[in-house]
Amino acid sequence: MPSDTLDATDFTQLQQSAHDHLWMHFTRMSSYQQAEVPVIVRGDGVYIYDAHGKRYLDGLAGLFVSQLGHGRTELAEAAAKQAAELAFFPLWSYAHPKSIELAERLAGYAPGDLNRVFFTSGGGEAVESAWKLAKQYFKLTGKPGKHKVISRAIAYHGTTHGALSITGLPELKAAYEPLVPSTFRVPNTNFYRAPIHGDDPAAFGRWAADQIAVAIENEGADTVAAVFLEPVQNAGGCFPPPPGYFDRVREICDQYDVLLVSDEVICAFGRLGHMFGAERYGYQPDIITCAKGLTSGYSPLGAMIATDRLFEPFRHGDTTFAHGYTFGGHPVSAAVALTNLDIFEHEGINEHVRSREGDFRATLEKLLDLPMVGDVRGAGYFYGIELVKDKATKETFDDEESERLLRGFLSKALFDAGLYCRADDRGDPVIQLSPPLVCDQQHFDEMEQIIRAVLIEAESKL
Ligand SMILES: Cc1ncc(COP(=O)(O)O)c(C=O)c1O
Repeated sequence: MPSDTLDATDFTQLQQSAHDHLWMHFTRMSSYQQAEVPVIVRGDGVYIYDAHGKRYLDGLAGLFVSQLGHGRTELAEAAAKQAAELAFFPLWSYAHPKSIELAERLAGYAPGDLNRVFFTSGGGEAVESAWKLAKQYFKLTGKPGKHKVISRAIAYHGTTHGALSITGLPELKAAYEPLVPSTFRVPNTNFYRAPIHGDDPAAFGRWAADQIAVAIENEGADTVAAVFLEPVQNAGGCFPPPPGYFDRVREICDQYDVLLVSDEVICAFGRLGHMFGAERYGYQPDIITCAKGLTSGYSPLGAMIATDRLFEPFRHGDTTFAHGYTFGGHPVSAAVALTNLDIFEHEGINEHVRSREGDFRATLEKLLDLPMVGDVRGAGYFYGIELVKDKATKETFDDEESERLLRGFLSKALFDAGLYCRADDRGDPVIQLSPPLVCDQQHFDEMEQIIRAVLIEAESKL
């Protein structure tokens, strides 16, 4: 049993080094000026432990990543075995067995003729790869003007310049403008705040999908290459697709010859109870981008999976997709991914999620009795709990209240109470839950009880 705690001298030294040298991602560094940096030292199952030995339920699977939970020695052993055999070789004109095996495996899981797998090191790189492929494909097939991308308001697709351009969060982008031109936003599928057809999900879905056609018409179909959509949109707090939404999107994409890119960086590998989210909602993408849960986080890996049609121009002659990443398809990561997928099969992880998701939802929906909980939404093991100031009117918090409540109180209070999750205000304020897929009722109850106690305290601070 590894020790959970560091001794006092080691801990003080680690804190000092963190304060002096570590630049944490998406972090307001000043908030740690006078405060301890939380240091997570160990994980076991669905729990993580900090440097003081305190236990937390990992309600976000790290960052939508740790599908099988922590401390799975089979995955660590797969990594060690591959590192000893062949630690590294690139996929630049060469291959290695695990990348070949994994490509075949992913093609087998992916719907329809999504048969060609281009590996990356993570999700943003997969999004970049998809946009570049879409542009080049149309140049090669006689439609060179098709280069623009449509995506949804508040959607997050990554931080590199291309992926950030596709992202629909203006406040994340402002500091880095000018970004890559040619991206356009359409409404998302936030039914709780539907601007139209608020009492009819199917009509709302039809309307939201039709906005993609409107955007294509406005830009000119001969300039639009692709639409990037998540099966369930993460940012904003888990917006599932209304009934019929993706059927209509597929029709529109076919009508205008626009590629449908299913950005499944979060939604693949069991998050929604299937290997791919597109399968759950019954639509056929032209490209799937994925990462995160592919290895359950035991090593970094991403992939762009393209249809036979998109690969066809690259099959012959001197055409090359002049694109790649040193660590894309890393042998250690590919070996880990294969073992991860083996465990998915042996332990029936997708079946587990499908059989328990109703209980997860029902447990979280108990929170709707609190005045501050406006909406509980999501699918699979992926939920957003929207917080409101006034439940009857759905009035949200103003900037000052959001700052005080979410940044100033909620995230830390949930963590202090033993739940690692996310209080997010990209869009309306939400608590997001995306726990390891091996969670059961006792963990659903633990999440509900912690959130309930913290929200009751938050009420008193309003
Ligand atoms: C839908 C989506 N696309 C892309 C990304 C970027 O992935 P990465 O952080 O691995 O680059 C993310 C990350 O959360 C994501 O949620």
